[in-house]
Amino acid sequence: MSIDHKERISVAAASPNMGSYEEAHASFDWSEVEKQFTWHETGKVNMAFEAIDRHLAEGRGQKTALLYSDPKRDESYTFEQLSLLSNRFSNVLRKLGLAKGERLFIFMPRSPELYVALLGSLKLGVVVGPLFEAFMETAVKDRLLDSTATAIVTTPALLPRIKRDELPDLKHVIVVSDEGVPEGTISYKDEMAAASEEAQIEWLDREDGLLIHYTSGSTGKPKGVFHVQNAMLQHYHTGRIVLDLKEDDVYWCTADPGWVTGTSYGIFAPWLNGATNVVRGGRFSPQDWYTTLQRYGVTVWYSAPTAFRMLMGAGDDSVAQYDLSSLRHVLSVGEPLNPEVVRWGLKVYGQRIHDTWWMTETGGQLICNYPSMEIKPGSMGRPIPGVEAAIIDDAGNELPPYRMGNLAVRTPWPSMMRKIWNNPAKYEEYFRIPGWYISGDSAYRDEDGYFWFQGRIDDVINTAGERVGPFEVESKLVEHPAVAEAGVIGKPDPMRGEIIKAFISLREGFEPSDELKADIARFVKEGLSAHASPREIEFKDKLPKTRSGKIMRRVLKAWELDLPTGDLSTIED
Ligand code: WTA
Repeated sequence: MSIDHKERISVAAASPNMGSYEEAHASFDWSEVEKQFTWHETGKVNMAFEAIDRHLAEGRGQKTALLYSDPKRDESYTFEQLSLLSNRFSNVLRKLGLAKGERLFIFMPRSPELYVALLGSLKLGVVVGPLFEAFMETAVKDRLLDSTATAIVTTPALLPRIKRDELPDLKHVIVVSDEGVPEGTISYKDEMAAASEEAQIEWLDREDGLLIHYTSGSTGKPKGVFHVQNAMLQHYHTGRIVLDLKEDDVYWCTADPGWVTGTSYGIFAPWLNGATNVVRGGRFSPQDWYTTLQRYGVTVWYSAPTAFRMLMGAGDDSVAQYDLSSLRHVLSVGEPLNPEVVRWGLKVYGQRIHDTWWMTETGGQLICNYPSMEIKPGSMGRPIPGVEAAIIDDAGNELPPYRMGNLAVRTPWPSMMRKIWNNPAKYEEYFRIPGWYISGDSAYRDEDGYFWFQGRIDDVINTAGERVGPFEVESKLVEHPAVAEAGVIGKPDPMRGEIIKAFISLREGFEPSDELKADIARFVKEGLSAHASPREIEFKDKLPKTRSGKIMRRVLKAWELDLPTGDLSTIED
């Protein structure tokens, strides 16, 4: 990344929802945001009501809420239609006996039914766990077991990956299909047809559950990050000032709801703000994406660096064939946004790409570039009004500009996770320095208060914007009959940010070969998920380990990148 701290992209001529940064910060108060909702008076709340039903009373019932398309379907839904459909689904769950606080997973590709099921579950106060369709048996099982989920919504194609005999708490399997459904499962279609369009919304406390998003750390199984209703303050507020959503916007967030971006900003932020939300199913292709932007006249577009890099790779000519003149605001999240991508975006789209920084754990955007501020390409921006961020050392001292340290956020903020499911010790680790949330990212700040991302402090891999825990991949690798030991690292990659590289020592009787590499990669792909599968494998006679037997990923990384290995005092002989 060629970073030039002096480079600036000035503010575009427009009238953003948020004016000057300094003024917005000086007068900011979360309780003012709260007054946008009726529940500041009643204390009782429901996300699905605020995102959908409320608009009916405010005259947006006939407004398009969802523009859905994939290679086979092309549909549109008003707020009123989504309200009635999600009412039906909440009645389906009520009939099954589901109750507030129970966990229901949604395991399916993007489709209107996914959104209806999610909203309908929320209406009943059920806590939703969204899963990527790419997850295989083990990944699905681990997440359902950990959260003792009682219900799942899925499709016939994905059904075989749900091992019901190993999931004692899972009572209801709801299958979305045009055809009949297998015995022992519940037909979404039939139950929806039979359910009433009128529903009793479950009024909740602001600290009641909303979602569990499972995400990866460097050790152990994925963590169940638990979010509550109160997060809507942040979703609404950032939708207004960061996404800059206005009444007439057609907004497209390209993320899948299996990822927190696809819920916080693919569902809640746009609908809390009453915007028209585009969802495109199917696979990525530049032609398809540009067609989507052009066809719907998308005005606000939120995507990820890996996608922008692929679009850049497809060439400027591919852009010129489309009319993208409706675009007025473009944003990015998930990994560092390379300055050259920002410069390219300005050239081909005539738009600044606004980087935003946040995490599954933070529930919403925290450090961002707004329409009303200068962009410094390569910087994540500045904390949003209502949020204080700093660079601190391990003792909690704030560091001066340009000193690298822990990227930390002053606690609390409305969408902060409220627990790690089943794992209070993991939760506490984030808050080990009093008054601060420790993100696990390292960064520095400049004299203007802009933050610059440096890397992860732990070994978490970020491949194409997806967090992959090395431990989960290593655990799968050693289940392969040929693998004795495995160490997994992220290797820098121009397109994907990082790719997964596995170092493997083989069991007695196995010989290194390309076929074996392919077989091992396939084993992870089929057992865990495609994005967790190593793109590179290297066989080693022995892996570097500490005397206590831990594989030293740091040393593997140094080998790979030709860097000094650092302190080796704990390495075994
Ligand atoms: C990384 C994503 C650089 C970071 C919503 C963070 C970023 C992790 C950025 C969270 C950014 C996210 N610049 N790095 N703008 N945004 N990251 O939980 O390492 O999937 O800790 O949520 O992605 O990933 P997660």
